[in-house]
Amino acid sequence: MSDPVLSVRNLVTQFETRAGIVTAVDDVSFDVGPGEVLGLVGESGSGKTITGFSILGLIDKPGRIAGGQIVLNGQDLRQLSPPDLHKLRGDRVAMIFQDPMMTLNPVLRIDTQMIETIRAHRDVSKARAREMAIEALGLVGIPSPAERVRTYPHEMSGGMRQRVVIAIALMLEPDLIIADEPTTALDVTIQSQILSEMQKLLAERQTALIWVTHDLTVVAGLAHRVAVMYAGKIVEQGPVDALLDHPAHPYTQGLIASIPSSVPRGQRLVPIKGMTPSLINLPKGCAFAPRCPKTSDQCLSARPEQENLGSARTLRCFHPSEVSS
Ligand SMILES: Nc1ncnc2c1ncn2[C@@H]1O[C@H](COP(=O)(O)OP(=O)(O)O)[C@@H](O)[C@H]1O
Ligand code: SF4
Ligand SMILES: [Mg+2]
Repeated sequence: MSDPVLSVRNLVTQFETRAGIVTAVDDVSFDVGPGEVLGLVGESGSGKTITGFSILGLIDKPGRIAGGQIVLNGQDLRQLSPPDLHKLRGDRVAMIFQDPMMTLNPVLRIDTQMIETIRAHRDVSKARAREMAIEALGLVGIPSPAERVRTYPHEMSGGMRQRVVIAIALMLEPDLIIADEPTTALDVTIQSQILSEMQKLLAERQTALIWVTHDLTVVAGLAHRVAVMYAGKIVEQGPVDALLDHPAHPYTQGLIASIPSSVPRGQRLVPIKGMTPSLINLPKGCAFAPRCPKTSDQCLSARPEQENLGSARTLRCFHPSEVSS
């Protein structure tokens, strides 16, 4: 593989709460290459969003990055000052949130917002910025972009609003986009339309994408590689086909088994029995032990370390299934 766009190593992000320290991201390591789509999958509360926020430098008190490295094209982001991080966001790294209104300002017209964003990062005239905005809206499938750019967010449907946000993310041709469940609220047809359009643009531009989702079926059709998170840790990662065809971790196996094969892509999966643990009172051993069909004494007394299986696969389990490769 060529040099990664993003390399995350041993990332630890914690929150200080009254009940104690919550380690939301715990020893997380992964790479994303140019043009590569990494699906970051896990149930709600597993640390996916906080991983994305950590990369973007968006962790505020009572949270902090307590360890690890975040390297974007050779540059260590943890060494950057807050103003430098601010400059980086939207320019070299963009984030697409689940709710488009986290990005859009309800009281400003779309053109005003897009032109402002462009001119905050690029030295171009207002007229040129408007052209760029209209071009970007056209690219993400917004009809009559020259007219639509003059409307307010509330005059658009949810799907159109999310397209605008995606256009804003793509507009400055960032090296990396982090998309946090951006299509979850949309209907299945619109979801798959947006996904396939984005996929084309990303491949053309060699943009790296981290696609955060709780839904394994979404990444199956989109990602090159998948990382499965559980209780703050990546428990298994690898190329999408290898991981889906030969999952080695009991949690990944459970996720896959809970997708009824008849369910069309993009539909919600049935959750695994039991609950995700509270991160405050994690068991001493493997966090998945209370729900795992293979739990042994070892699992209850020690935490499995991440192992490198080669072929870009990693695994964190004492009793994995054999990986045939
Ligand atoms: N502001 C906060 N204060 C305390 N704990 C937090 C805070 N934000 C997130 N967490 C903890 O981090 C965990 C992971 O959150 P998150 O990354 O949002 O999960 P996901 O995106 O996978 O649903 C949560 O379960 C919660 O325990
Ligand atoms: S380490 Fe043990 S409890 Fe944890 S997933 Fe593997 S087999 Fe299950
Ligand atoms: Mg989240």
